[in-house]
Amino acid sequence: MKRIFSGVQPTGNLHLGNYLGAIRNFVGLQDDYECIYCVVDLHAITVWQDPEALRAQTREVTAAYLAAGIDPKRSIIFNQSQVSAHAELAWIFNCVIRMGWLNRMTQFKEKAGKHRENASAGLFVYPSLMAADILAYKATHVPVGDDQKQHLELTRDTAQKFNNDYGVEFFPITEPLILGAATRVMSLRDGSKKMSKSDPSDMSRINMTDDSDAIAQKIRRATTDPELLPGPEALDAEGQVPEERRKERPEAWNLLGIYAALSDQNWAQVLAEFEGSQFSSFKKALTEVAVEKLGPIGAEMKRLQQDAAYVDGILKEGAERANAVALPILREVQEIVGFLRP
Ligand code: TYM
Repeated sequence: MKRIFSGVQPTGNLHLGNYLGAIRNFVGLQDDYECIYCVVDLHAITVWQDPEALRAQTREVTAAYLAAGIDPKRSIIFNQSQVSAHAELAWIFNCVIRMGWLNRMTQFKEKAGKHRENASAGLFVYPSLMAADILAYKATHVPVGDDQKQHLELTRDTAQKFNNDYGVEFFPITEPLILGAATRVMSLRDGSKKMSKSDPSDMSRINMTDDSDAIAQKIRRATTDPELLPGPEALDAEGQVPEERRKERPEAWNLLGIYAALSDQNWAQVLAEFEGSQFSSFKKALTEVAVEKLGPIGAEMKRLQQDAAYVDGILKEGAERANAVALPILREVQEIVGFLRP
């Protein structure tokens, strides 16, 4: 059986990267997989969250899932803290995962920065909870943006080590699904930095709830370079952008990738359309497609965010269904580990 699990942190400012790298792909996968989509509030508190804001942000991610087209009848939508199997399995994985593995995680290094001693212990063991999220459902596939690759590698290592240590064939070795032309959306201000919820400049990102004026202004002011846009000969034999080329013109490739993803085209089609164009005309076309695709989703998100009772009801029902899948798996793990349940 093929089962999808993925999650988004309710840390505010959901943006185009979250949409193109993850949420949009979640929608399409519903046709072929059993899908479980989580709002990972336990992960969010690894850095400080104001409690009232956390509640609003949890509803914001849920609203984004629904507005983007995740169907709560077909798929499971819930928030992580309502299903205790995540935290319980994470503890067991804390005892399987090695310190050395966690020490290698680049996301921890980035987030903790120079203040490592002051980072929460939760931030350090974050990948263990992420492995638990996925494996509590024995998920076979996990759609994510490019930045989560290393965490998924650790999830695979965890499954393997658990299976080896206990001499079982219990957990699946999960496959990442990194899909589309915009798996790593960069900041609109600086093409060498990832578009991020925590960037202090709101101009660096297009938020999922931005209105058409804000979208137009941010694209107009997005950093570019003085050259004309490249043609299809810039692509490699597989029709992809070679890494050296991307490094030469990070802002241009970022905007072209966003256009390709939003307009459902491949690189070759987009480059054929804009070869030799100036940024000004390309930016007009990009604004048009961004407003067309994001406008209705943002409006529906705002409408849903006004209806907390409806959103909370979806999460409650989702948590019951998630629990029904995860609990029997957790019980088997407890049995394998040797926990007595008289
Ligand atoms: P989070 O909340 O940072 O991001 C949610 C999803 O959005 C993707 N993403 C991006 N994709 C392209 N370009 C970007 N600039 C960009 N920024 C973010 C992320 O790759 C992610 O898919 N650790 C995860 C949450 C998580 C999870 C899980 C995911 C917790 N448990 C289990 C999958 C399975 C995170 O911090 O995502």
